[in-house]
Amino acid sequence: MGVIGVGWVGLVTAVCFAELGRQVVARDIVAEKVEALAGGETTIHEPGLGEMLRRNLERITFTTDMDLLLERARLLFVCVDTPPTYSGDADLSRVRAVVDDLPDDGGHVLVMKSTVPAGTGHSIRRDMPDLPYVSCPEFLKEGSAVADFMHPDRVVIGADPGDEEAADAVEALYRPLGGEVIRTDVASAEMIKLASNAFLATKISFINEIANVCEEVGADVGEVANGMGLDQRIGPSFLRAGIGYGGSCFPKDVSALKMLAGNSGYHFQLLNAVIEVNELQKRRVVSKLVRHLGPLAGRRIALLGLAFKPDTDDMREASSLVLAARLQGEGAEVVAYDPVAGERAGELLSSVTMADSALEALRGADAAVLVTEWGEFAALDWAEAAARMARPLIVDGRNFLDPAALRAAGFAYEGIGKQQATATAATAE
Ligand SMILES: NC(=O)c1ccc[n+]([C@@H]2O[C@H](COP(=O)([O-])OP(=O)(O)OC[C@H]3O[C@@H](n4cnc5c(N)ncnc54)[C@H](O)[C@@H]3O)[C@@H](O)[C@H]2O)c1
Repeated sequence: MGVIGVGWVGLVTAVCFAELGRQVVARDIVAEKVEALAGGETTIHEPGLGEMLRRNLERITFTTDMDLLLERARLLFVCVDTPPTYSGDADLSRVRAVVDDLPDDGGHVLVMKSTVPAGTGHSIRRDMPDLPYVSCPEFLKEGSAVADFMHPDRVVIGADPGDEEAADAVEALYRPLGGEVIRTDVASAEMIKLASNAFLATKISFINEIANVCEEVGADVGEVANGMGLDQRIGPSFLRAGIGYGGSCFPKDVSALKMLAGNSGYHFQLLNAVIEVNELQKRRVVSKLVRHLGPLAGRRIALLGLAFKPDTDDMREASSLVLAARLQGEGAEVVAYDPVAGERAGELLSSVTMADSALEALRGADAAVLVTEWGEFAALDWAEAAARMARPLIVDGRNFLDPAALRAAGFAYEGIGKQQATATAATAE
């Protein structure tokens, strides 16, 4: 089998299928990436991936050579990126570039793992009538990508009449993983992926709005989410209030679905609200800080965590990017620490001072904002942190820390959707 594009999805796909005993040819256009991977060095931070790559190296050929891939592989898993365009639609230029390189001679099968708008498969199939096409969207989560791939909740395989044999071949590859296999048509498979991400994003924006109301009425969103989640019709996952979703998938996929609907003549009102709530949620941190500190000009604010979620170094659409810019816009000095994303973040946040540890970031800070819920922040010596800070104030943007422990360590603690801490005399300074 072949993999085209060895980023998060492609690399995990290649390595996991190799782990299952398959011979894999993995092609990317970035020569340095191919070279590093061929040497057993992973190019992304993903728990368990490095070891799995190294123990399966002899089963994977990393290459930039399309001819080699076509010669050795029949099933071609397309895993290239589909970022947003300026219009908010999905940018399919990389997918198109791959398709342009493929022969339309019946000798290969295109298996689309990239997230693409519904209708993409039909349009490719129209242009390439002799290239069997299977939609097989990916549902892995960064931070637990290997485990998600190896133990899928479900595997969606979409194929249209005439391509059943190709779909059978894809299904055979996934069978050893267990998980329910859903066989459907291509357009429905494409929609399952977009609708799943849009629904999860909607859940997040919903609970964030509930959190904001909780702050107004003196309720605790953690209690509310717990009480809601025990209802089996609702379920507990994705009901964690915070400073909004980010990452390489939710923002672009929600926007792509909204645009897809609009381009097809339907106004998807709900998604407008989901997107707007998410944007505003990141900014609410600023007003929480102002309530305690007054104007932020000249204040030193420490951001703990920069990656869009823990256990990844992915900075795409991370909430930290918006937050850092907003804080700097208010005239604050921003210092930040992330256990693994510091280097990637440094390239994007050139005017933010990067610290080598959480305690170093907190030294002399007027406030800390927990942006990403890395495990090491739970284990931090918060009493030591309070002693180092100019003012022990924390906004826990993920409701991750223990408020009682933080208060015992001397902090004024602000969560999301919780009773607000009494503003200190600091405002008067
Ligand atoms: N990252 C996730 O968590 C995730 C989860 C599910 C689905 N997806 C979807 O999977 C797709 C890939 O996402 P990703 O995060 O892995 O992207 P990525 O940016 O990490 O990787 C894409 C890779 O494709 C390579 N590439 C681009 N054009 C190429 C070409 N013509 N030939 C060969 N390689 C090429 C790039 O160099 C890069 O290595 C996207 O459509 C995304 O929406 C991502």
